[in-house]
Amino acid sequence: MAVTAWEVEGDIDYAKMIKQFGTQPMTESLAGRLKKPLPNFIRRGALFSHRDLDKWLAAAESGKKITILTGRGPSNKMHIGHLLLYELAKYFQDAYGCRVYIPVSDDEKFFVKEGLSVEDVEKVAHDNIIDILAMGFDPKNTLVFMDFKYTKIYRHAAEVAKHMTYSMAKATFGLKPEQNVGWSFYPAMQSAHVMFPQFMEGAHNVLVPIGIDQDPFLRLTRDLTDRFKFIKPSTVYPIFLPSLSGSKMSSSAKDSDTTVIWLADDEKAVSQKIRKYAFSGGRASIEEHRKMGGNPDIDVSFQYLKYFFEDDDKKLKGMEESYKSGSLLTGELKEYLIAKINSYLKGHAKRRQDVERNLDKYMLED
Ligand code: TRP
Repeated sequence: MAVTAWEVEGDIDYAKMIKQFGTQPMTESLAGRLKKPLPNFIRRGALFSHRDLDKWLAAAESGKKITILTGRGPSNKMHIGHLLLYELAKYFQDAYGCRVYIPVSDDEKFFVKEGLSVEDVEKVAHDNIIDILAMGFDPKNTLVFMDFKYTKIYRHAAEVAKHMTYSMAKATFGLKPEQNVGWSFYPAMQSAHVMFPQFMEGAHNVLVPIGIDQDPFLRLTRDLTDRFKFIKPSTVYPIFLPSLSGSKMSSSAKDSDTTVIWLADDEKAVSQKIRKYAFSGGRASIEEHRKMGGNPDIDVSFQYLKYFFEDDDKKLKGMEESYKSGSLLTGELKEYLIAKINSYLKGHAKRRQDVERNLDKYMLED
């Protein structure tokens, strides 16, 4: 397992990650405080860790100002593995009625990805923004910006950079001598993103739903907030949805076309990929499966239903039982999932069109 701020590889051990990053494990009493209704994946235990979520909730519960911030690094198209994070941000917006900030780090991906021009990252960013907003963020309460297009962010990055030494950035990210200096400056930019709601609205509690691989940026930011008399941002981490092969879904993986379902995939691509590549917890033959039953815990199709696509708890439980008992076959489970994904993606494509016509309602630009 290798998890750094710039790549996540291999099998993921969540308990180990909590230890490695020094975050707090999610507890039942804390999860129980979250306003209902909860999205499927929260109800089913896929929020595994946090920092100071209790403080953010306490602020929310006592009527203080609260906001949400989460970002996007536009290196490639988006896939279904990205849905959990933005669904999480949207849940907080819906449940707590608070503003959501979404900075998009085109500069970061320009610095760290070989062969991407400024125009390339801007194009990917534009497309990603439409995907994210199509998940249903409230246009009256959502602010999105790209670092190249909302250049006022630079002033805040500079304010942060003045308090961030090279060795702090190096200790956090292990910067290498041959890397361009963009890599060493960028942590100041991402810290400015995380503090942006407080730069804009004054000190208050900000919650950052984020992949745990991004935690080093947050740790560094939390060490600097005192300088600005800001409150340390809270964080909350969802699990990673597995790829079709069962490891972490990664758009930059060389085999991504057989391991990832893109949000832009058509019906045929989805059914082919699920049928052919979705790792199955079923048995080698139908006879054996009927006799011994399958294992839903390692079955990727079942995980997709569990953490995102099946809303009905009873139905999910029923499928889990019948898969275990062998009465539900892998092929049947897969066809059920294919229909679910395709109907979701059809709605998504429609919502993209609506968002695209109204992009200026969400965007901060110079
Ligand atoms: N660096 C993040 C990524 O690659 C994207 C990002 C930019 C971000 N600014 C952020 C995430 C602020 C959380 C908060 O995915």
